[in-house]
Amino acid sequence: MKVTDVELTISAAKPDQFPKGLFPEVALSGRSNVGKSSFINTLLQRKGMARTSQRPGKTQTLNYYWINDRFHFVDVPGYGYAKVSKSEREAWGRVMEVYFQEREQLKGVVQLVDVRHKPTEDDVMMYEWLKYHELPVIVIATKADKIGRSKWAAHVDRVKKELQVVEDDPVILFSSETGLGKEKAWSAITEKLFS
Ligand code: GTP
Ligand code: MG
Repeated sequence: MKVTDVELTISAAKPDQFPKGLFPEVALSGRSNVGKSSFINTLLQRKGMARTSQRPGKTQTLNYYWINDRFHFVDVPGYGYAKVSKSEREAWGRVMEVYFQEREQLKGVVQLVDVRHKPTEDDVMMYEWLKYHELPVIVIATKADKIGRSKWAAHVDRVKKELQVVEDDPVILFSSETGLGKEKAWSAITEKLFS
């Protein structure tokens, strides 16, 4: 997809701030620091659009990016960040539950996992939960530049096996550093958004 137009519509802290229009949207999901904001920047070809950080917990609100006057990308705070207090984690859980369960505009979820490591328990639970709610998922195995090519296939297989990825959900090897997987990711996303 050629991205001609990007605008940050809103950083929403609670559900009543989510955009009201019925435009389709795709949301990011994944552990804190896995590379969700970087993924958005790579797909949009705009380096500083979504704020990234080496420190986990950078994204704290649901950030709505309005693309080409047609759809939204939603950058979401990551899960599994130990330093967040219990009450903050619970508050996050409630907002996300409402979002993923009730948001009609949501056409699919891009779930990111770090291809270097075995998916965490949180990753497994999140994928199960998304499937329970019958959301189409695109699994992005990211940070591929951090392991040797010879390991790619085995690591992708491990992701598929651990998450028990269903047949309809693509698993795409990706790197925000090199742009690997970018076109495949776009095809998978537009298919979920507009079919
Ligand atoms: P939160 O907002 O905290 O949930 O994190 P996030 O998932 O949005 O992660 P973010 O995009 O901020 O990236 C975290 C760190 O990982 C940054 O230092 C990025 O530069 C780095 N990073 C992200 N993707 C890649 C990748 O594909 N390869 C490499 N080498 N580094 C990456
Ligand atoms: Mg982020």
